[in-house]
Amino acid sequence: MTEASAGRPQQPPPAMRILCISGPNLQLLGTREPQVYGKETIAEIHARLAERGLSLGVHVEARQTNHEGAIVDWIGDAPRAGFTGLLINPGAYTHTSIAILDAIRAVALPCIEVHLSNPDAREPMRRRSYAARGCVGRVAGFGGESYVLALEGLVRILTR
Ligand code: DQA
Repeated sequence: MTEASAGRPQQPPPAMRILCISGPNLQLLGTREPQVYGKETIAEIHARLAERGLSLGVHVEARQTNHEGAIVDWIGDAPRAGFTGLLINPGAYTHTSIAILDAIRAVALPCIEVHLSNPDAREPMRRRSYAARGCVGRVAGFGGESYVLALEGLVRILTR
């Protein structure tokens, strides 16, 4: 306790803030190729993430966009906005976007790559991930559960 804080009620430390970004076409989850991506909607996945975040003592802000530039903006702004870690499912930009990779590297926050499907087990074009080069790890192939498992891994990294 400092002299300035003496006598004041103690505030709990602010919860760690984690930003989860989902890329193009993921707003269509639920109806998009359910045999590949499952039946859960993005809103249901976001709700599950928020709930698991609560039990882990972290705040998860989850967003989705179809625009590469918006993803780059959100990543670039993440440190200023108080985020300490990132979860990202770049969708098809996984396989094409050096701009997203550069943004991840630029902010140097721990980042986990997330996929509902297992891209390595699909068409050859999905085997290359640019994002992977900026990420500490990847969770893929567990449907919506991939996001929750990635959150658990990220929190371990942030608290070890
Ligand atoms: C995906 C895999 C990508 O190859 C694909 O383009 C997507 C979804 C996944 O979560 O499995 O849009 O990122």
